[in-house]
Amino acid sequence: MKVFLCPNRTDLARLTATLLAEQISRKPNSVLGLATGRTMEAVYAHLVQRHREDGLDFSGCTTFNLDEYVGLPATDARSYHAYMHTHLFQHVGIAPDRTHLPNGMAADLAAEGQRYDAAIKAAGGIDLQLLGLGENGHIGFNEPLSSLASRTRPVVLAPETRLQNAGLFDGKPESVPPLALTMGTGTILESRRIVLTVAGKAKAEMLRAVLEGPVTAQISASALHFHTNCLVLADEDAASAL
Ligand code: GLP
Repeated sequence: MKVFLCPNRTDLARLTATLLAEQISRKPNSVLGLATGRTMEAVYAHLVQRHREDGLDFSGCTTFNLDEYVGLPATDARSYHAYMHTHLFQHVGIAPDRTHLPNGMAADLAAEGQRYDAAIKAAGGIDLQLLGLGENGHIGFNEPLSSLASRTRPVVLAPETRLQNAGLFDGKPESVPPLALTMGTGTILESRRIVLTVAGKAKAEMLRAVLEGPVTAQISASALHFHTNCLVLADEDAASAL
């Protein structure tokens, strides 16, 4: 893993967006792995700006998001389908059939996970996967003790994750869906290139554990040590415990 430090959140978001924009310019039909969360909002804002000001062209790209809550339809403003539409898709002229998120409304969630992995494979695999870091070390929603070889599947969300993501649910962790569908850690590791973007003091101890501690299923992000093309971008707050 290579680690690059940015002085602040704004530069961190801009650099993450620049890496994605360069990937698209180099390969207009890139398959992009996308993430959600507060850290990514600023990244998508920069990409929308690039699209408007520099003509960054998303029309040939295919996207696969990491995860979605179980039981929220795409029309629910708190779903990750809605998040992606609001922050990126509606602004950049990418055809809906080129954007993919796991279907949290599927009747058979395990089968939906298998279908999703097959769709990634059929698209030629992910060229560049964006990741955020959960405060408990998750990537996607691969909670502690997820197998490091796991595939896309339904998972039970950890209490700390429901707390961390309560913002969109009136601040009530108990209103956050208890289940989600997530790309597995094994699925994520198959991406050709990975960028993990980490911001803020609240992630500092976890980022230290990821970078300086052992590889362990307790911390899914530690599996990124196995990847040969993974870049970690952190702002000074997130890097303060290194
Ligand atoms: C959610 C997503 C994760 C993401 C995390 C980071 O849990 N499922 O994929 O990494 O949010 O969130 P934030 O950027 O809001 O700290």
